[in-house]
Parts: sequence; C-alpha cells; structure tokens
Amino acid sequence: MNEANSDAISSVIVPVIYLLSSVIFIFGLKQLTRIRTARRGNTLAAFAMLLAVIGTLLEIGLVDYRWILGGLVIGGTVGAIAAFKVKMTSMPEMVALFNGSGGAASTAVALAVVWQSVIEIGATVPAFAVIGLNQAVTVGLSVLIGSVTLSGSYIAYLKLQGSLNKGEPILLPARHIITLSLIIAILGLSAYFAFYAVGNVGMVILVITGISLILGVLLVIPIGSADMPVVVSLLNSYSGLAACATGFILSNNVLIISGAMVGSAGIILTQIMCKAMDRSLLNVLVGGFGSQTSTSSSGGSDEYTTVTSAGAEEVALVLEDADTVAIIPGYGLAVAQAQHAVRQMADQLEKRGTKVVYGIHPVAGRMPGHMNVLLAEADVPYESLLEMDEINPDLKTTDVAILLGANDVCNPLALTDPSSVIYGMPILNVHEARNVFVVKRSLSPGYAGIKNPLFEAENTSMCFGDAKKMIQEILNEVKLLPER
Ligand code: TAP
Repeated sequence: MNEANSDAISSVIVPVIYLLSSVIFIFGLKQLTRIRTARRGNTLAAFAMLLAVIGTLLEIGLVDYRWILGGLVIGGTVGAIAAFKVKMTSMPEMVALFNGSGGAASTAVALAVVWQSVIEIGATVPAFAVIGLNQAVTVGLSVLIGSVTLSGSYIAYLKLQGSLNKGEPILLPARHIITLSLIIAILGLSAYFAFYAVGNVGMVILVITGISLILGVLLVIPIGSADMPVVVSLLNSYSGLAACATGFILSNNVLIISGAMVGSAGIILTQIMCKAMDRSLLNVLVGGFGSQTSTSSSGGSDEYTTVTSAGAEEVALVLEDADTVAIIPGYGLAVAQAQHAVRQMADQLEKRGTKVVYGIHPVAGRMPGHMNVLLAEADVPYESLLEMDEINPDLKTTDVAILLGANDVCNPLALTDPSSVIYGMPILNVHEARNVFVVKRSLSPGYAGIKNPLFEAENTSMCFGDAKKMIQEILNEVKLLPER
C-alpha cells in the first residue's frame, strides 16, 4: 500500500468507521432499553463492535492475523460453550466472569503499552515525556480500575457460587483503613510512574497492578452474597470505565465512547437495583448485609401456623369464574423453567375470556430483567408484562393472583415490619388480590431468608410442588372446565 493510501485510511476512513461504530453503539444501547427492541439492539451493538475491530485493524496496518484468528477461535469457542451450557439461574456468575475479563483486557493493554513504548525502548526519561502526559496518567487509572474489576469480579463469582465463606461477608479488622491506605499507595505509585520512574518502570507498574488486585479482593469480600448482583452491576460499570481509560491511552475514540456508555449504564442499573431493594449504594459497599440475611432467624418454615393448601383442581375451580388473573413470576420460575407451561396456561385462560397479566418486580429472580428474559423466551406478549407500579393499583380488583416461585418480592413485611431486613423494599401488593395461590415446593424462605406472612393470609392457598409440574396440572384441570 502506498503512503497516500495509508494516509487516507488513517485520516479519513478509520475516523469515519469509528464514528459510525460509536453512533451504532448508541442506537444499540437505546434499543436495549425496551424488551421489544432488545434483541435488535444487541445485534446492532455486536455489528458496531465488528466495525470497531475492522477500524482498528485498518488503523494499525499490517498485523499478524494468526494472533487475531487464534484469539477469535479461543474466545468464540469459550463464549459459545458458555452461552449454550450456562443456565439462566447462573447468569449473574457468568456476567461476573465477563466483567472480570473486561478488566483483565484493559489492564493487559495498559501493561502492553508501557512495555512497548517505555520499557522495550529503554527510555531514559519518565513516562510522561515518552508517551505524553494524558497517556502516562491514564495508564495508572486503567491498571487500577482494570485490576480491581478483575479480582473483584472473581471474588463476586466465588461468592455467588457460595464457594467463598459460603457467600458470607468476610470482615477484616480495620478494613476501611487498609482499603484507604492501598488506594493512597496506588495513587502515589501511579504519580511516581508517570513523572519520576526511570529504569524501574516495569517493577513500579507491576506493583501497582498487584496492589490493585488486592484492593479488588478487599473491596468485595466484606459484601454478602445477597448484595452480590448489585456488586456485579457496579463492577460492570468499572469494566466500562477501565475500557474508557484504556481508550485514552490508545487515543481510540470508539473505546472511550463505548467504555463511557458501559460505565454510565452500569451505574444507572446499580442505582435502579438499590432503589428496588431500598438500599443505598454506600450501605451495599460498606458490607455486612449478606450475613444478616442469610443467617436470619426471623422466620422459618416452623413459624407458620395457619397455612391452607390447595391442589390443581381447586385452583382450576377458582379460575373458572375469574375475569382477571395476575401471574407473579419469581426466582422459582427460573429454577423450574416453567415459562412455556405458564404461557400455555395463560393462553387457555384467555380462550375462556379471562384477562391474564404478569406482574414484574424489578428485582424478581437473580438478575435485572430475569423474568422478562424468561417470559420473552416463551413468547409471552410484551403488552401483558406490567411493571410493579403499573399493576399494583389493579391488584385490589384482581380475582386471582398466582405466585410462581415468587416470595420476597410479595412479602408484606416490607410494608409493615420496620425490624425486617426487607422493610422499605417496594413490593407487589399481591396480598390485596381476592384470591392468592402461591406455587412453591415448601414453606422455605426466599433469598432474604425471612418468613412471609402472605402464606398464612386468609385469601391465600399454598400449592406445594415444582412450578412447572404444578402449572401443567392446573392447565390440565383448566382444559376440563365447562365453557363460559
Ligand atoms: P425469592 O424470594 O428468592 O424466592 C424464590 C422462591 O422460589 C423460593 O422461596 C423457593 O421456595 C421457590 N422455588 C425454588 N425452586 C422452585 C421450583 N422448582 N418450583 C417452585 N418454586 C421454587 O425470589 P423472588 O421473589 O424472585 O425475589 C428475589 C430475591 O432476590 C429478592 O430478595 C431480591 O432482593 C433478591 N435479589 C434479586 C436481584 C435481582 S437483580 N433480581 C439482585 C439481588 C438480590 P421453595 O424452596 O419452597 O420451592
């Protein structure tokens, strides 16, 4: 390729590709905000990523494509196996691992830049004089945020799996002082790296990386597994910020823009989750909440006294005359994979003229949008999915509410008991419905580990069993009902 062509590529074609890629990223993200358009948004964002990769390859010119092919094959295989094998209930763990990989990639790029531009050439002046002030400063930031994301995400993964201290918080003495000291050390060393270090640059940057990895561990171990999904969302935001910092090091606009978008989307999602659980972010980060909840003894199955139970036939008899039915899915729906059965039951009821809607709590399940994803899989019409604020006013006049593996998100203690760990969390006011059927296998508590007085309410009947099996039985009974 002659020089004029190569100039045209780097000064015109590459910036245009980056601009196009950034704009498509923004449109993709916008489409992800609606269930109906989310899939298209995902495809658009993937296409934007492809454009960004093409732009980068054109920008850096001749590269050894064997490395790229190798990365593509290894990464693609791991991703494809994970996508097929990982269960929906393990999605938070998978997202944690993905975030960790993002952090690792940002750290690796920052280290590679330091190696190539400073160490390998045997620079005799500090980094800022070799790679520029902006780059030298952002190297420290990129390594700090990337490494914290990497180690923090792996700790989050282990906690979600329950394999680190059974998910309980690990509270070190003087942990806040240790954390603060580490942050000060990293910032000091980063300044030393940028403005003074000559000859010992490799050692300095590796020490910064090591301390940042320890910091990531220390920031996540005090947080209980109950709060881990919030932490995963926050780490997702960090992985975006790390990518953004790396974009500044590489002077790569598309990385800066996409990193900033991931960073801000992650922080917005974190706030939404905290609000839905009535927790402040600071309260989550200071830690200790998980121990309270998972060991809580404020209500176990033995404390229930007046529980009424019902079988599929009794449920069908009440459904026979119901005009409105609200289905409230929860974590148990994901465990039982009952989404297709539920759709079939809803179709059958609708054929009889019954109006069926789904009440979706923002933190039902174990990850944001968990229920929406499951129900979309069964092609449940989007119009039937009502958010908490939409459905709550109508629950008073709803004939039948069916809880499918949902527990905490309908626990009235959140409204009535100031001593409860979930007090203040907004709930679906299912207790106000005329008839309530709770489909779950036992009286075991949900994620918060507390009793649910709804199970003893006069208008409630418990339908004990696996959600899928129970819904199929109810469906069979509904099919036998006389026409209306
Ligand atoms: P939970 O309160 O966790 O209750 C789920 C219920 O499903 C359990 O009580 C369990 O009872 C039942 N279950 C499990 N397997 C089942 C099966 N095969 N068939 C039928 N039922 C089954 O769920 P929820 O109401 O969805 O609330 C979510 C909780 O997770 C909240 O406390 C929320 O704060 C927390 N959380 C959520 C998120 C996000 S982003 N979604 C993030 C952090 C924390 P049995 O064992 O008796 O069957």
